[in-house]
Amino acid sequence: MIATEKSAHTIMYYVTYHIMQLSIILHMYSILLYLARPHIGTLPYPYEEMGAVMKLLHVVATPRNKSSRTLAISQEVLKHLHRKFSDLQVETLDLFASDLPAIAGDNIDTKYTLMKGLKIDKSHQASWREIEKLITHFLAADICLVSVPMWNFSIPYALKYYIDCIVQPGYLFRFDERGVPTGLATGKKMIFVTTRGSDYSENSPYHASDFQEPYLRAIFGFCGITDMHFIHAQPLDITPEITKSALRTAMIAAKDLVNSFELA
Ligand SMILES: Cc1cc2nc3c(=O)[nH]c(=O)nc-3n(C[C@H](O)[C@H](O)[C@H](O)COP(=O)(O)O)c2cc1C
Repeated sequence: MIATEKSAHTIMYYVTYHIMQLSIILHMYSILLYLARPHIGTLPYPYEEMGAVMKLLHVVATPRNKSSRTLAISQEVLKHLHRKFSDLQVETLDLFASDLPAIAGDNIDTKYTLMKGLKIDKSHQASWREIEKLITHFLAADICLVSVPMWNFSIPYALKYYIDCIVQPGYLFRFDERGVPTGLATGKKMIFVTTRGSDYSENSPYHASDFQEPYLRAIFGFCGITDMHFIHAQPLDITPEITKSALRTAMIAAKDLVNSFELA
């Protein structure tokens, strides 16, 4: 009888001892979690990796700054995006104010070196790093907003120059041994805000002269981007009344487009 009581006490003792140990471990763990909590938001790199920040790259391809109608519509897109995604982080690349690296000299040699699948020459690496920086920023963006007026039926030269810089083998596309291309810039959303002096919409007689949207779709599609959206404001250079009405329509289109996006 005494022996049974003793062993019951021993079991009770061990159970209580282990429960206490477990509760101390749990307490220590929750204290550690609490201490770590305030730092999570101040550590940008892992925080971003966890997908907590929506990164947007705004590529500005108009030199008209405050006078630009394209930028006015893009501001509307940004306003609605900020409302939709509270963690939106915007980086702007003003192409007409940037000194883009030349696609000539060492860099053009490197492009052909990469096309052949060879290693970049050591003496060309420093120069190529400037190209890589542009590519890294483009690839890092979840959303790329491009403000692009129509110039001579197509895009302004500054945007073409940017495209020539970033569309590089092994970074935005690659060819297999049979010459079949694969786009590498997948998983990104692109929004193009375009403005045109005349009307190039589907039923207009000038529709066939729109080399802007088809070109942008072709080049970024080649890079693997499938999620592309266009807001066209047109015609903007006919009469002030027509301009006003076309801008109003584009502003509504900006709001509707952002509202159609699903929250990540
Ligand atoms: C160099 C240049 C070329 C242009 N070419 C065209 C064109 O081919 N077709 C067109 O409809 N408008 C053309 N435009 C008019 C612009 O597309 C239009 O004014 C646009 O709204 C300008 O955008 P922004 O206000 O953002 O600068 C051209 C403007 C410039 C400056």
